[in-house]
Amino acid sequence: MRVDVVPDEAALAVRAADIICDVVRAKPEALLGLPTGATPIETYRELERRAAAHDADFSRATAFAVDEFAGVATDALGTNRAFFDRYLNVAFRALRCPDAATTHPGSHIRAFADEIRRSGGLDLCVLGIGVNGHIAFNEPGSARDSRARAVALTPASRNAHAEAFGSLDRVPVSGMTLGVADLLESRRILVLAQGPAKAPIVHAALRDHQGAEVPATWLQSHSDVTWLLDGAAASLLSGARE
Ligand code: GLP
Repeated sequence: MRVDVVPDEAALAVRAADIICDVVRAKPEALLGLPTGATPIETYRELERRAAAHDADFSRATAFAVDEFAGVATDALGTNRAFFDRYLNVAFRALRCPDAATTHPGSHIRAFADEIRRSGGLDLCVLGIGVNGHIAFNEPGSARDSRARAVALTPASRNAHAEAFGSLDRVPVSGMTLGVADLLESRRILVLAQGPAKAPIVHAALRDHQGAEVPATWLQSHSDVTWLLDGAAASLLSGARE
């Protein structure tokens, strides 16, 4: 496991974009798992800049959302599809996102994970981390062998999305996520975290024993994980490399 600490959000976006672009340069038809949230927005802008400047070409790569809400219109304000439409203006071969309007979220997300497997698996999965330790929508309690499934969202996760949906009561009560086991099947994982609010959970994810209480601890068992942190998110770690 590598821990890279960079000074600020701008440096984090550049370093994350470097890693993503390296993967796609080495394998133009790479499959990428991508998160939503505030954290990757600058990274996505950096990818957009590089593509516009012809420094990077994503036209043969396919991006897969790692999770989505369930029980709302596909492109309703606040969905991950709406997030990617707004913040990831990069011409991939395809950007695949589970359909938030599906009437069968469990079988829908299982078929989505099957599609990733059949296509050869994720070459790089980029993840954020929730303040409660969730990765994608694998909330606390998610087992290491959990697979793609429909999930109930915790109050903390619903609260975090109240603004995006317009109000808390508009935030769906459930979602769909690739499971911990699905994420761990990625050949490489890049976790992004920034800001002081993430410092305690980053410390727990890296230093606590692995367990379902903090799903991000399961990442310790993967052989190729890079944690990319700004100074604030890394502030409770000692010995992190800068
Ligand atoms: C969201 C998403 C995750 C994301 C996380 C962190 O709920 N489901 O995929 O990584 O929370 O979000 P943020 O970057 O806004 O802190």
